[in-house]
Amino acid sequence: MNRPYNFSAGPAAIPAEVLQQAASEMLDWHGSGMGVMEMSHRGKEFVSIYEQAEADLRELLAVPAQFKILFMQGGGLAENAIVPLNLSRAATVDMVVTGSWSQKSAKEARKYASEVRLVGSGEASHFTALPEPGTWELSRGASYLHLCSNETIHGIEFHDLPDLKALGSDAPLVIDFSSHVASRPVDWSRVGLAFGGAQKNLGPAGLTLVVVREDLLGHALPACPSAFDYKIVADNQSMFNTPPTWGIYIAGLTFQWLKRQREGDLTGVAAMERRNLAKAKLLYDAIDQSQLYVNKVAVNARSRMNIPFFLRDESRNDAFLAGAKERGLLQLKGHKSVGGMRASLYNAMPLSGVEALVAYMREFEQKQA
Ligand SMILES: Cc1ncc(COP(=O)(O)O)c(C=O)c1O
Repeated sequence: MNRPYNFSAGPAAIPAEVLQQAASEMLDWHGSGMGVMEMSHRGKEFVSIYEQAEADLRELLAVPAQFKILFMQGGGLAENAIVPLNLSRAATVDMVVTGSWSQKSAKEARKYASEVRLVGSGEASHFTALPEPGTWELSRGASYLHLCSNETIHGIEFHDLPDLKALGSDAPLVIDFSSHVASRPVDWSRVGLAFGGAQKNLGPAGLTLVVVREDLLGHALPACPSAFDYKIVADNQSMFNTPPTWGIYIAGLTFQWLKRQREGDLTGVAAMERRNLAKAKLLYDAIDQSQLYVNKVAVNARSRMNIPFFLRDESRNDAFLAGAKERGLLQLKGHKSVGGMRASLYNAMPLSGVEALVAYMREFEQKQA
């Protein structure tokens, strides 16, 4: 079945094979006589779905044994509160602000930490460049440092995670990897905790992934709700309360799809990284070579997942979007806070989708030159 190409920033495209499998299992999962949404989360059927999903994710992201994988609810914005509730110990938290999502994280953490220090900011560049880690003034004894490793709205990504130890800090690094989880491997030696909503690269909205180093568990503030206390969630295999069973199931199918992906000699997330680099290069090259389109982000920090671009003549925005829709190129309108266009090239977007977008962009530019 030929579907349009969906460039939504999230909730976003899910691989057609995953949707087809879910559709075929909707009424009767593996002869159980039940659909997945109708199963007890404690029954053997769902427990097997859960265990497979967790094992596949651990393998795909090469998560070391001393990290717990938690399947929670609340999304990225809830994690902005849940992280300081668990990790701040009501002390100082360091923040690096590189766009809208980390700005929100800093604001929320102020409710729980004794102090939130902005140790690096990209604001002066209007979030088109990353503050150089060597310039960050890290606090002594900070309970953690938070950054957003891919800013979905501003299209800016840390291509490498900072090594806080090398910068003289013992603070664990917390990353919001909502919009590029599973798009590239993660260097866990640099990370204490990573969180992300599933609705961009892993599955449907309603599921939040948290990967947390064991030694960070057990320090929640007394006010932390039990269902959000990472230690309680971890001790109960994410089943202290009813987990988002449907989201875990679809994410599990997506993990199996990811494991089947190949690019040359690479498989899984390494294959996705190679494919994602090729997709992003194709689009950035087309933007940079044109007279009409522009992307303002510094080349060394351009997101491979979310690519905002602007028409130099903004009066043509509506015509661009209408023509795109006619050609089956959906959801290209930029975030309302920045305007213009944005193409999100998550794992489910094939290279052919980016080729179709680039061909349309050239056609639109030539026609109106
Ligand atoms: C990087 C990032 N963090 C956090 C969020 C907020 O996630 P949620 O709406 O699931 O709370 C988003 C949503 O787009 C995001 O892109």
